[in-house]
Amino acid sequence: MTIAKRIFFTSISFFVFNSCASDSNEQSVDDRLDTLLSKMTLEEKIGQMNQYSSFWDVTGPAPKEGSTAKQFEQLKNGLVGSMLNVNGVENVRKLQQIAVEETRLGIPLIFGFDVIHGFKTISPIPLAEAASWDLEAIELSAKNAALEASAAGINWTFAPMVDISRDARWGRVMEGAGEDPYLGSKIAHARVKGFQGDDLSAPTTIAACAKHFAGYGFPEAGKEYNTVDIGAPTLHNMVMPPFKATIDAGVRTFMNSFSQLNGVPATGSKYLQRTLLKEKWNFDGFIVSDWGSISEMVAHGYAKGDNHAAELAINAGSDMDMESHLYVNELASLVKEGKVDPALINDAARRILKVKFELGLFDDPYKYCDEAREASVIGSQSNLSEVLDLAKKSIVLLKNENNVLPLAKKGQKIAVIGALASDKTSPLGNWRLAADINSAVSLLEGLKAYSGNTITYAKGADLTTGKTEFVSDLTINTTDTSGFKEAITLAKKSDVVIMALGEHAMQSGEGRSRAYLGLPGVQQELLEAVFAVNKNIVLVLSNGRPLTIPWAAQNIPTILEGWHLGTQSGNALAQVLYGDYNPSGKLPMTFPRSVGQLPLYYNYKNTGRPSPVNPGEVFWTHYIDQKNTPQYPFGFGLSYTTFGFSKPIVNNTYNQNKQVTVSVKVTNTGKREGKETVQLYLRDIYASVIRPMRELKGFEQVVLTPGQTKEIIFTLTEQELGFFNNQQKWLVEKGDFEVYVGEDSQTINQVNFKL
Ligand code: BGC
Repeated sequence: MTIAKRIFFTSISFFVFNSCASDSNEQSVDDRLDTLLSKMTLEEKIGQMNQYSSFWDVTGPAPKEGSTAKQFEQLKNGLVGSMLNVNGVENVRKLQQIAVEETRLGIPLIFGFDVIHGFKTISPIPLAEAASWDLEAIELSAKNAALEASAAGINWTFAPMVDISRDARWGRVMEGAGEDPYLGSKIAHARVKGFQGDDLSAPTTIAACAKHFAGYGFPEAGKEYNTVDIGAPTLHNMVMPPFKATIDAGVRTFMNSFSQLNGVPATGSKYLQRTLLKEKWNFDGFIVSDWGSISEMVAHGYAKGDNHAAELAINAGSDMDMESHLYVNELASLVKEGKVDPALINDAARRILKVKFELGLFDDPYKYCDEAREASVIGSQSNLSEVLDLAKKSIVLLKNENNVLPLAKKGQKIAVIGALASDKTSPLGNWRLAADINSAVSLLEGLKAYSGNTITYAKGADLTTGKTEFVSDLTINTTDTSGFKEAITLAKKSDVVIMALGEHAMQSGEGRSRAYLGLPGVQQELLEAVFAVNKNIVLVLSNGRPLTIPWAAQNIPTILEGWHLGTQSGNALAQVLYGDYNPSGKLPMTFPRSVGQLPLYYNYKNTGRPSPVNPGEVFWTHYIDQKNTPQYPFGFGLSYTTFGFSKPIVNNTYNQNKQVTVSVKVTNTGKREGKETVQLYLRDIYASVIRPMRELKGFEQVVLTPGQTKEIIFTLTEQELGFFNNQQKWLVEKGDFEVYVGEDSQTINQVNFKL
């Protein structure tokens, strides 16, 4: 710290200690909170519950009556507790200075930002990270994101999104960990640990936010913000576990959801926010609304107007209002009219202030405002190599017929085709507010870094035309095929064709539901045209959700799932294509054959007619025009080597010590070193509430050299063997269980046991 800064800091902290909480060091946070709250007016407490977006960036629709001048005035009057979408030390410092120096009590702001998959250095999108199944690497990714964001003045991220979803039409699946609550819970825990570390007051960690509580991932028809109607078993066994995992990891904030759950908007749900989260789970952090979700309760048909919406939200337990402007406008009069108990305002303000204390903002409101740190940390070399590591681990090999991959490193003529191959922004994914445009390594650049082959490029066709912005609709090229000729000519002359096809990053994410999940625009046509002249194609997919690619799955010999992999995308893909990294990713979400199968997920329940009794009869659960099975199942992913599994052995000592162990031997049966993610699935064959056909209940990653064998032992306890019944009671029921251990959710390597 420079001397000038130190003097400045000392005078500020003197001001804060003296105005907010005297004798800070001796007092507990609770005492300091009491002292502070006793000095605050009702309006100042409500001010803490008011959050505005920055005056220059938005991540949602701007409110109709949202004058910047008025917001600045409110900030100066201590009527704003938090800002979002502000970044950079200079900007944060400016606003913090107003809060600390110009308001009556000098309470610092908390600065929120969507640090979802990296900050400036971008990691793979969360769905891709989940495909790595590597909890340590995922935790590290969140830690690095926090490191960069905190160096840019931010102290709170709106992540992790832990919404389980089974419907690839919903664009936000890119932001979650996929369809499975067990994997989702492990990842949710890792992400919170990564962001928050062990010490929230350290200048390098930031508060995390579990979102969107709850059910947002189950919108009807996969349509954004749509109605959610799910029963108790799904809510408690599928949706809730990852949220509970964030509580166990010590998450400090929650965000509610835009959607309604079983007839009540999540934002107005007392059951979700007060009964379950704050009372049953003892959550003592705070809940922020989603962007404008308090006022949206009017359109939902739940609140009769703005004033009523504010009343419903606070009574239900929403502590902070993001961008509805309703708490600041309505709450004081609601209290005066006796419609809102002032104790609820006290409780909400206290929760928010508590997190500010825990972050250390009262001790030093500028602790995240260090220009020297900002300059040295953001985009550092070590972060670049860590995002590269995770990007490689996130890639999933879906098909490798004839072993086209890995590519030979020299002597080949390689054609690269597709607009996404040279795109340096789309690989950054959907949430990359702080990243520089064009800052990703493109696939083409990554491939060219290996100099032994001749690499030539033809775009073939544009994927998009016009702007590709976070807030706006995208225009897809559905007509212009004028570049096909060049691509076909090039393909004819080449030994191998790498086709980079899929979705632009702005085709997935919030507000980006799709009704068709094939390759957008003219890409399918381009693929087939190139295939007609050269069948030796490696299809490298970029996408933020599972796609339907039945033709490619049948015809193209080699398919690599490359998601949106972040800053190091091209390098990661090239290393996998050339075999410097042996692909190890496994799908965290089922890939359907067609949209009509959705929602499609591996942990489905059997019907009473799961298969035909007599061949040829229609009376069973099926489509007359599509298979029941997916294109690629949950947990699926190939390697350049192969693995074999022994039959699992069960050691059932449940009656003695409440545990069952399952052991299996895994052998690398191929010719290269490789990593396998060994997955254990359980089926409780009959139960008082029907259980899924299979549920993931354990996984472990092993790296094996050719011929090497390793034994893995899984332990199943009450936690893995039980479930919530319809009365929300946790039960482990006696009876027969099936265990499957193998390479993906369709493994047939099975053994049974009885409890
Ligand atoms: C999203 C949230 C996000 C918030 C702030 C909303 O539109 O649903 O997930 O954190 O905006 O950007």
